[in-house]
Amino acid sequence: MGFDSPHGYGLSTPTAGMADSIPVTVRDGDTETTIDVSPGAVLRDVLSEHGFEVYGSVSRVANCGGRGLCGTCGVRIEEAIEPFGLHDAAAQRWGYPRLSCRIKVEEPMTVELVEKRLWGQLRPR
Ligand code: FES
Repeated sequence: MGFDSPHGYGLSTPTAGMADSIPVTVRDGDTETTIDVSPGAVLRDVLSEHGFEVYGSVSRVANCGGRGLCGTCGVRIEEAIEPFGLHDAAAQRWGYPRLSCRIKVEEPMTVELVEKRLWGQLRPR
């Protein structure tokens, strides 16, 4: 995949021919919205900035701040995106929602928001 951290820590090199923006389609119930995202943006941050909720009512205020530890920012991703970090790798391996704070947008993707009540309600499919 070629990145060291979803938050941009570590070495990175510009990619020749990289697009100015990458389309991310977000499914929220019956609604589907496509947003243009800067390459390299963290999916959790992008979704939040566009008003999409990745958390439950409690985890909205009590989460790990995007460090990949609490497991409450899960979303379904249609494409096979390479996991980053132990927790996201486990989520991918066992069919749980992927941790949006661990996903860097580097290619077009379709994201489905997961219904949550309090915490993460992360269940395998
Ligand atoms: S915000 Fe805690 S795992 Fe993503």
